[in-house]
Amino acid sequence: MTDTPTVYVTRRIPEVGLERLRDRYEVVVWEGKLPPAKAHIASRLEELDAEGLVCLLSDTIDAEVLDGSPDLSVVSTFSVGYDHIDLEAAAERGIAVGHTPGVLTETTADLAWALLTACARRTVEGHAYVEADEWETWGPTLLTGPDIHDAALGIVGLGNIGTATARRAAGFDMDVRYSGRSRKPDREAELAEVGVDATYVEREELLAESDFVSLHVPLVEATEDLIGEEELQQMSENAVLINTSRGGVVDTDALDTALEREWIARAGLDVTDPEPLPGDHPILRHAPERLVVTPHIGSASIGTRNRMAEMAAACTIAGIEGEPVPHSALG
Ligand code: DGY
Repeated sequence: MTDTPTVYVTRRIPEVGLERLRDRYEVVVWEGKLPPAKAHIASRLEELDAEGLVCLLSDTIDAEVLDGSPDLSVVSTFSVGYDHIDLEAAAERGIAVGHTPGVLTETTADLAWALLTACARRTVEGHAYVEADEWETWGPTLLTGPDIHDAALGIVGLGNIGTATARRAAGFDMDVRYSGRSRKPDREAELAEVGVDATYVEREELLAESDFVSLHVPLVEATEDLIGEEELQQMSENAVLINTSRGGVVDTDALDTALEREWIARAGLDVTDPEPLPGDHPILRHAPERLVVTPHIGSASIGTRNRMAEMAAACTIAGIEGEPVPHSALG
């Protein structure tokens, strides 16, 4: 028996975070490739009498899990998003909830641009074409796509990642507009400093007039299926839709229909609904010509993932020591 608190970690996060935890606590890591079942997390918390839980966005953390260990004082998610955690249940039980805000802003904006450029310039399709040994000669109209420079970029949700994505448009001389609950003069000023003149417009106008629409809203009740049939029909037939936020923000069946009926030209998705997207999902019949999908890797740079591990460890330590969690999801 030991008095050293125990932390249960639902996946092997980068070593830098685990080391920080091991310096102070017993650390038990779930070594599976797939997430542990919810019931398994609850029973491990109970067996270990855990005081800290480090989880991922693929774990559902609800009352059943939170009641796993009576000593649980903190849940620290290795993610910015916390829509997988029942915050109300945590608050009711006095359990702190930490997350990793800010850290992945630039890295996720990079990926939004990677998808945008891949869709516009058809690079994934081009790679498949070469690999299939179809490249016989230079072609005057081979794999032509829309220009990115001078095009209109629509940002839905001008938060941190939306702003970082818009900032990158400066190098492409794009016409940038954004939509959201309200105008954001501070964000506009920040963007103006790098030469991006971001105009606030209603969402319908943004959808109708943008060549590229990039989604940057959190998944909450109001944003569930925010982009459905109606919205996709409002978009231009040459438009490209990019989603690096949460899969549930886009109605997958509606997107499938939109690609099928050519309401829009292409889509680039880093997040999907369902997620993971099964390899035999019908929407994948549009790939790679009309659809590029990556497996939720928005934050997947080595530096960012290491920083996320450090932040997750810092939140866990604060929670166990009874100090304010540095990045609290409970407000
Ligand atoms: C998050 O952290 O919420 C991202 O979606 C994955 O890193």
